[in-house]
This record gives sequence, C-alpha cells and structure tokens, in this order.
Amino acid sequence: MIRFPNALITGASSGIGVALARALALPGATLHLSGRDAARLEAVAATCRAQGATVHTQVLDVRDAAAMQDWISQAGRLDLVLANAGIGTGTGDGTEPAQAARDVFDTNVTGVLNTALPAIEAMATQAPAPDGWRGHVAVVASLAAFVAGPSAPAYCASKSAVQRWAEARDATERKRGIRMHALCPGFIRTPMTASNAFPMPWLMEPEDAARRMLDGIAAGKLRIAFPRRLYAISRVVGALPPGWRARLMERAPPKHQV
Ligand SMILES: NC(=O)c1ccc[n+]([C@@H]2O[C@H](COP(=O)([O-])OP(=O)(O)OC[C@H]3O[C@@H](n4cnc5c(N)ncnc54)[C@H](OP(=O)(O)O)[C@@H]3O)[C@@H](O)[C@H]2O)c1
Repeated sequence: MIRFPNALITGASSGIGVALARALALPGATLHLSGRDAARLEAVAATCRAQGATVHTQVLDVRDAAAMQDWISQAGRLDLVLANAGIGTGTGDGTEPAQAARDVFDTNVTGVLNTALPAIEAMATQAPAPDGWRGHVAVVASLAAFVAGPSAPAYCASKSAVQRWAEARDATERKRGIRMHALCPGFIRTPMTASNAFPMPWLMEPEDAARRMLDGIAAGKLRIAFPRRLYAISRVVGALPPGWRARLMERAPPKHQV
C-alpha cells in the first residue's frame, strides 16, 4: 500500500527535497513538486515519472503567498505536504548581514507558513485516509532549532520558530483530523552543506534522511529528530545556562555565508 498517495513538496529541486520526492515516487502516487530552478526541478520530475509516479511541477517562490495559495488549493487531494524549501546563511568571520537575516526569515519562516497554512485549510475539507487522518503537514526544521548557534543566528531562530509552531499547532489540528510534524535533521550531504569548512559529525546522505522522515511521519511522531547522538548533544547544549552555552559555542568554527 502507498503510505502517502498524494504528496506536495517545496524545495524539490535539490538536496533533501529530491530524496523525499524520489522516496514518494511509487507507481500510483501523485506528486506536486516545486522549486525555483526549472531545469533541476524538471530533472527530478523526470526521475520520479520513470519510477512510476504522476508528477506535476510548479516553478515558484515560497515567499509569494498568493502564488502558494493558488498552487496548493488547486492541487486536489493532499495526504502529505512537506514544507522543505529553506536557505542557510552565516556570520563568516564577521557578523550576519542584515539582508541575509531578512532573507532567512522570509524563506524559512514565512515560506513555511505560506505552505502549511493553505495545506491545512485544504486538508480540513477532505475525507480521512486509511490511516485515519485527513492529512499530514511536515515542516523541515533542523537540530539547529535547539541551539542558539552564534555563527548562524537567523538560521537557528528560523528553525526554532517553525519547529515550535508545528509542534504547538498539532494539538488543535489533531482535533480536525490533521497531523503536524516537525522534522529536525542534523547534517545532511546536500548543496546547502557543501561549502561548510568545518567538521559535520554524523553527516548523513539525503536518502537516509528522507527515509527517516517519512517513516517517522507514518509512525505518527510529532518530532522526528536525528541522528540520535547529535540530537542528544543539541538538547544538552541548548539546556545549558545561556552564559555557559555562549562561551562554549564561541569556540565553534564560523559558518560562512552561502
Ligand atoms: N542539509 C542539511 O544539513 C540540513 C540540515 C537540517 C535542515 N535542513 C533543511 O532542509 C531543507 C532542505 O535543505 P537542503 O539541504 O536540501 O538544501 P538545498 O540543497 O540548498 O535545497 C534547498 C531547496 O529549497 C529551495 N528554495 C530555497 N529558497 C526558495 C524559495 N524562496 N522559494 C522556493 N524554493 C526555495 C531550493 O530551490 P532552488 O534550488 O530551485 O532555488 C532547493 O530546492 C531546508 O529547509 C534546510 O534548512 C538541511
């Protein structure tokens, strides 16, 4: 049985989004994929079609609320929506540029709301699936949600915002038959991390990350955080008194802008 026959993914033109699309691209499945780069998006769609899925593509920017509303409301039944599109930035050897901070919040927070809110409204009117839920909305946060990393202030804050929003909103959406999930991966080998010039412990392949995410959603987990050891470290560091944590994190190597 296909777990999620009708799925929609933002940021499907690269990295984790590609792996999620390919993992969902089973014969009989329908995928709605979006990204900004038309050529890369079409290449992903071709691969998914070759695996037997029906694929619709849309080139759009998640910051465009009206375009997102149109796209999602016209997609038809949606069993799973993955708000995956995101960008990173960093301080480099200086501080975080003002425009970079604004861009990160616009994409990683407003872009996630532009995806999740129309999805929730569309799901609220559809019949439950065999798993008993009308639909699932998963936001791609990060283990960065749990640590105020001084080398990527806006990124950490944006991921914390969407992780907490999804987990809190699940309580009321459950009553309407909709599940929310916060996906919190550690380091994944994608173009986003390709320029990181520091060690990335327990770096994972995107295919492994996608499998863990989809298994966690199917199992009904509210928070899907991995790898386990890095999650534990993130929670411990995040729970330190802020002054101690700041002194510890100051020793971490800088994250350069991408
Ligand atoms: N890689 C990691 O280690 C890691 C860890 C934790 C969380 N994450 C999160 O996972 C998600 C995917 O990251 P990734 O590593 O796969 O990065 P990636 O390879 O750089 O892919 C990012 C995707 O987001 C899309 N995107 C960015 N801005 C957009 C916008 N304004 N409108 C529409 N699409 C936009 C990109 O589309 P185009 O390429 O077409 O522009 C691309 O498809 C992000 O939310 C990221 O923060 C990544």
